[in-house]
Amino acid sequence: MPVDPCMDYLSLRDDAAVRRDDDLGVWIVTGFEQVRKLLRNPALSSAWPENGRTRLHDQEGTDGAQRTSDTVRRWFMFNDAPRHQRLRGLIAPLFSAARLAALQPFVEETVDRLLHDVTGRIDVMPELAVPLASRVVCRLIGLPSVVAPRIAAWASDIDALLVADYLPEVVKRGTLALEEIEQAVAEARTGPGAPEGSALEVLSDAYGTGLIEEEDIAATASLLIFAGFDTTSTFIGKAVRALMHTEQWSAATLEQITSLVEELLRFDTSVQQVARIAVDQVEIEGHRIERGDLVLMMLGVANRDIGTFAASDVLDLGRETGRHLAFGYGAHYCLGAGLARMEVGAALNGLLQRWTHAELAEPPVLRPHFGVAVLEHLRLSVRA
Ligand code: HEM
Repeated sequence: MPVDPCMDYLSLRDDAAVRRDDDLGVWIVTGFEQVRKLLRNPALSSAWPENGRTRLHDQEGTDGAQRTSDTVRRWFMFNDAPRHQRLRGLIAPLFSAARLAALQPFVEETVDRLLHDVTGRIDVMPELAVPLASRVVCRLIGLPSVVAPRIAAWASDIDALLVADYLPEVVKRGTLALEEIEQAVAEARTGPGAPEGSALEVLSDAYGTGLIEEEDIAATASLLIFAGFDTTSTFIGKAVRALMHTEQWSAATLEQITSLVEELLRFDTSVQQVARIAVDQVEIEGHRIERGDLVLMMLGVANRDIGTFAASDVLDLGRETGRHLAFGYGAHYCLGAGLARMEVGAALNGLLQRWTHAELAEPPVLRPHFGVAVLEHLRLSVRA
């Protein structure tokens, strides 16, 4: 049996489903039902980047300093009601079934163009996953395609800012990335203005009618880059890697792509955890989470909960389940879930249609990035 690609974090299952990590000073939740219960609890706030502190923040002497940038504070992902609903409601129509159907040809054509000249070998990350996810996010926001090659570096610097803003270098780079996005947004809004149907058009209109402040336009664009790029490009890589590790490439059929994507999301998702901060006391399983405590919901581990999924560590291509937590749960459920499914489906479709045989040409290359292992290269040998 090949080694499970998620071995590094599955060991968290050995402990209780809800427990306090005294070294980090945070709560860790790994049980499927416990994660669902806590993600519905209004006493757990999403404004953790602003208010949450770990031991590392205290050790690095940033005591008392306000956390994170003004731009990140504006992201509705990290806001609670009522601001969360107001901004989410503005952007949500961009992800309607009709809008996604209109975007589908662009996604499929992009996959076709990226795979057109590939013969024999492909590095899935730089040749497919990264350019696809960055071009789609630019299209959604209304940024010109020339901006797409800059998305990966921006997302990487913003990812670091969210977890390690006790390091001055990280703050510097993250702030610069947010400023550069603001600049790109300003350029896209001048001249003929934001493209029709784009997020920038929706946001500019909302600013015009006084629903939001001007700073919310670039801030929401940077949220869409953060939420929509790395999540999707990494998941495309993980999905292919999972098929390689379980040697099931040739068993995957084009007809089952939709359910295959769901099982791959359950097996090894790209968003391993979401955080919340307690704004009130919470009782769970005999524990008391105190006001101000940080709580980490381990989505990837919960998706392997042995009490919830039969043979939970098996990638079962025939499994019928939409019950995974890869896109979160509750009020902050992923707004881009439909788009992500479409992108991943198109990418897998493009690969499986062209090559009935694929195998790892060399072991996947991972780069550690502030506690997260980023998939940088996934080189395959392929043949029809
Ligand atoms: C496989 C790819 C993706 C995964 C695994 C994923 C996962 C998630 C998760 C777990 C959350 C919940 C965060 C929380 O509860 O704190 C979330 C929220 C969100 N996602 Fe995704 N996501 C993906 C792709 C996308 C895409 C393509 C977009 C759009 C471009 C997107 C936009 C968002 C937004 C805007 C939110 C915030 C929703 C809110 O706070 O109301 N995501 N995503």
